[in-house]
Amino acid sequence: MVARAITSTVVGLEPRRVDVEAHLISADLPSFAIVGLADRACQEAKHRVQSGIVNAMLPWPARNRITVNLAPAALRKEGSGFDLPIALAVLAGSHQIPIGRLLEHACVGELSLDGRVRPVDGTIAVADGVRRAGLKFLVCAAESASEAALAGIQVIPVSHLAQAVAYLRGEEEIPFAAPPDSGDFEEPFVCDLAEVRGQERGRRALELAAAGDHNVLLAGPPGTGKTMLARRLPGILPPLTRDEALEVTRIHSVAGTLPAGRPIMLTPPFRAPHHGASAAAIVGGGAVPRPGEASLAHRGVLLLDELPEFPRTVLESLRQPLEDGVVSVARVGGHALFPARFRLVATMNLCPCGGRGDPAAECGCSPQRISAYREKVSRALLDRFDLVVAMPRPRAEELSAPPGEVSATVRSRVVAGRERLRDGDVLRRTEAASTLLDRAVEHVPLSGRGRARVARVARTIAALAGADSVLPEHLAEALSYRSPLGVPAA
Ligand SMILES: Nc1ncnc2c1ncn2[C@@H]1O[C@H](COP(=O)(O)OP(=O)(O)OP(=O)(O)O)[C@@H](O)[C@H]1O
Ligand SMILES: [Mg+2]
Ligand SMILES: [Zn+2]
Repeated sequence: MVARAITSTVVGLEPRRVDVEAHLISADLPSFAIVGLADRACQEAKHRVQSGIVNAMLPWPARNRITVNLAPAALRKEGSGFDLPIALAVLAGSHQIPIGRLLEHACVGELSLDGRVRPVDGTIAVADGVRRAGLKFLVCAAESASEAALAGIQVIPVSHLAQAVAYLRGEEEIPFAAPPDSGDFEEPFVCDLAEVRGQERGRRALELAAAGDHNVLLAGPPGTGKTMLARRLPGILPPLTRDEALEVTRIHSVAGTLPAGRPIMLTPPFRAPHHGASAAAIVGGGAVPRPGEASLAHRGVLLLDELPEFPRTVLESLRQPLEDGVVSVARVGGHALFPARFRLVATMNLCPCGGRGDPAAECGCSPQRISAYREKVSRALLDRFDLVVAMPRPRAEELSAPPGEVSATVRSRVVAGRERLRDGDVLRRTEAASTLLDRAVEHVPLSGRGRARVARVARTIAALAGADSVLPEHLAEALSYRSPLGVPAA
């Protein structure tokens, strides 16, 4: 007797349909084998499935040789999400649930030894695969049902194997899970721009970065508010559109980084990896390729605090995603592509001791040490920062001044600016502005990329100003953010 349960697994970020076939033959010597390129977690499914069935008070087909095949066999199967489909296929194969009704439903979930159904990472991607396979129903763990419903299929939430069986037998009716309601998960930003005193130029750069998706480098002596300011970039970004939210949620679902109790990410993600994190953790990769911080920051903000502390190899491997918005990682039989379109915000001191650029401090660093420190950040990487801002020590009167603008006010300007930028043709350079750009290329060292980036920043400035075209003053401001590190090395 062959029974089949349909499920879906995720390769990279892409869902792939998998058919779980259970073949039961009466035999004096009972056995239970799983074939079809299953990894260790899949092999261990045998124990969970057997215990789960027994603890659901269902008879285990003891006098049988049971073979479970995961098809297509060429696709590497990993993880514990096959437990539920395997158990249901075995139960259908032993006539405990109707074979036909099982075929109308996809299913996914891990089983605990007592038969409870547990959620697995990547449920929204799995559900998307179910939809693409032309199926309408998915049986999965109650905890991930709302996330799965975002894929636009009917989701049957179950908390125990016995409940899934009762449902498939038609003994229990279970209402479909509702997708999360966007209003429910709006998270207030805990830190506000109003707390940052002074630093007008840094605040301005942050606003430009938010409006035009630019990368920012904040450089200056310790304690001037660089980290403080950088952490406030997410708070002035508009919420994600519906499509962006689904895309971002999918990445975090696969990576297992969805915040607890929040099945969908509605606000731009904010990631701030430590400089000790591995290249695979930051860029992505590994034996089984996983999205790294760069992809977890997709459509949001990646903060690299203390930029020169990051290993050079990590920084260099970020160059490609910074240019293309995707990370390509090698995997068996080809490459996996992970989206990685983020705004990079980075901070650094101007010298190893930090004293440089602070009139009140002594810097004892030799020119050699300073250049060694700065060389950790390559020219090529530096070239990708559209906005380089020197953050001086705030003056006493700035620190005691009344609070500055709140994030909400800045965010509303950002939203308006982004709308104008989306209107492609409106913001052309005036001839005078173009002449200024050409002349600048001859005087400041500007690469081809640098020139294009200055032009983009100038458009952002014009958009925020509500101008109809890019004027020389907009270009002049854009150029002012290109001076390497704002302050000369020695
Ligand atoms: N401009 C500022 N406005 C208000 N508070 C500030 C400002 N600058 C510094 N502070 C105070 O100093 C603390 C340290 O600031 P922050 O961590 O941002 O410094 P930093 O520039 O990142 O320094 P470092 O180079 O040592 O990392 C902040 O938590 C805040 O309390
Ligand atoms: Mg800091
Ligand atoms: Zn120094």
